[in-house]
Amino acid sequence: NHGIGVLTSGGDSQGMNAAVRAVVRETLRQGHRCYLVREGYTGLITGNIDQATWEHVANVTHLGGSMIGTSRCDEFRTTDGRKKAAKIMFDRRIFHLIVIGGDGSLMGAQKLKEEWGRFGEELFAEGKITEEVANEGRELHLAGIVGSIDNDCIESDKSIGSDTALHRICEAIDGLVMTAQSHQRVFVVEVMGRHCGYLALTAAIAVEADYVFYPEIPPDDKWPEQLCHQLESVRKYGKRQNVIILGEGVTNSKGMKIGGKQVKEEIETRLGLEVRIATLGHLQRGGAPTFLDRLLGLRMGHEAVLEVLKTTEDVGSPIAGQKTVAQVMCLRGHNIERNELSRVIRQTETANEEMQQRNYD
Ligand code: F6P
Repeated sequence: NHGIGVLTSGGDSQGMNAAVRAVVRETLRQGHRCYLVREGYTGLITGNIDQATWEHVANVTHLGGSMIGTSRCDEFRTTDGRKKAAKIMFDRRIFHLIVIGGDGSLMGAQKLKEEWGRFGEELFAEGKITEEVANEGRELHLAGIVGSIDNDCIESDKSIGSDTALHRICEAIDGLVMTAQSHQRVFVVEVMGRHCGYLALTAAIAVEADYVFYPEIPPDDKWPEQLCHQLESVRKYGKRQNVIILGEGVTNSKGMKIGGKQVKEEIETRLGLEVRIATLGHLQRGGAPTFLDRLLGLRMGHEAVLEVLKTTEDVGSPIAGQKTVAQVMCLRGHNIERNELSRVIRQTETANEEMQQRNYD
């Protein structure tokens, strides 16, 4: 009988509850213990952990947010913080962990895994855990699930929450278009996504926007002329409104953030059009998850349980003593595939660094 902990970390995303439900139900179905770690890594450090029952996760799939709470936990970024978390896990005999979150959260999980053996030895040497517990928990069985509206995991076609966020963006812009049309206005719509332009770019296509700014291809210094030329040309053939999507994290050639106010001023000065800014903010993370995010959450939660239990068998097999390798659940086409977590983290870091480098060159 194993103890499997599940937590959500970083920004919440719609569909996380479905993933938590699948983790709990599959764990219990297989006769193991499941633990809900509250408020992300903060709960792992403070011991804010409840043993899950079958009923805990009834009627949750349709709910947005994270039913077990989430946080951006600074203490877990430190070795001391992670060691405190390990101590709590040894005390509760939780040697299997499923982390649902974005790249920063998964990176924290990978660090805990790498330090786990050392933490176990130290805790035993300090007399904080018994030899029996140290032996039982010699391995941390870890699996990651990408839960983030940003869809910025390099190996996964979709992260949990990005589909719903796109629905929210489309709904909001559909709502803006008619008022824009009545007043012949331009709307600059600011969308989230951090360093990733997926939300901005795909939403722009879906709402027939006239212009999109996204971080992967930063605008050159001539963007005000290009943008205004584009607006003029579509107005010429009778268009009464314009939507411009401005992704978060878009910078100019000097690495300075381009904000909605700047875009508005350029258009008003150059074209004399009336411009309004709509910042969609956390509405993008709100509301009920779409069918796709529910299904994705459920499938990934289920696969993550199979994954952490599979690595348990590896340790008990002739290759016992070998370190297990943490995997992250990724969507590839219609299939859920596993990818080595440390490699995915490295690739994402490199891609972000290369993008920043390119943008400043
Ligand atoms: O990572 C998800 C995300 O919504 C990003 O798109 C955004 O930059 C950030 O989180 C906002 O964070 P917070 O909710 O802490 O303001």
